[in-house]
Amino acid sequence: MNKNNNHIIAPSLLAADFANLKNELKPCNDSEAEWLHLDIMDQQFVPNLSFGPAVVKSIRPHSNLFFDVHLMVSNPFDMLPAFIDAGADAISFHIETTEPRFTFPPKIIINTIKKNNLRCGIAIKPNTPFKVVEKYLSFIDYIVVMSVEPGFGGQSFIPSTLEKISSIDKLLKEKNLRDKIAIQVDGGIKLHNAKDVINAGADILVVGSEIFKSKNPIETINEMYNL
Ligand code: DX5
Ligand code: ZN
Repeated sequence: MNKNNNHIIAPSLLAADFANLKNELKPCNDSEAEWLHLDIMDQQFVPNLSFGPAVVKSIRPHSNLFFDVHLMVSNPFDMLPAFIDAGADAISFHIETTEPRFTFPPKIIINTIKKNNLRCGIAIKPNTPFKVVEKYLSFIDYIVVMSVEPGFGGQSFIPSTLEKISSIDKLLKEKNLRDKIAIQVDGGIKLHNAKDVINAGADILVVGSEIFKSKNPIETINEMYNL
């Protein structure tokens, strides 16, 4: 996954100072971080409203990081064109939003993302069992294992997620998909628990408040790489 070890740190911009986004990107750009995690919330699927494609488009020219858009929205399909146009490199959507009452079947969402040469991820909330995404595994690039209830940064890591990560790691290995599908873990990751998350099998660690609220974000990111 990553040049000098086997995990990637993806700073989550939700925790940044929205009045100062261009400058907040600098430490991410100047660190070993490779992905930038962009939390899109519509106050329907989650009880919070964050930012949209216009913000992603405006920061695109200011970072070469891999833009990872996390759609926490009730109708992900309708949002795809705007985020593809905004310069996303990867888009993940929540499997819970594809219940019939919400939106399009997962395969249509996946095909649209892949057809535009982006990486595609499926996100599952803490109480959503992994088995609900099994039938889509051969079509996607990563799984987003939520380690907090989606909607806000700064929450505490749900400890039972470690077990969920390792069972997903094991199942992917059994299916010979482990090299094809990355495990992204999202929410509540700090310097004190990041090693446990990595040891459980995570490839990509999404980190928001621990980085952006720290005195030295570059140092915090690089420390996370050298755990
Ligand atoms: C929560 C988001 C997470 C969150 C991570 O719904 O998906 O990406 O911003 O922030 P921290 O690291 O502060 O939990
Ligand atoms: Zn997220």
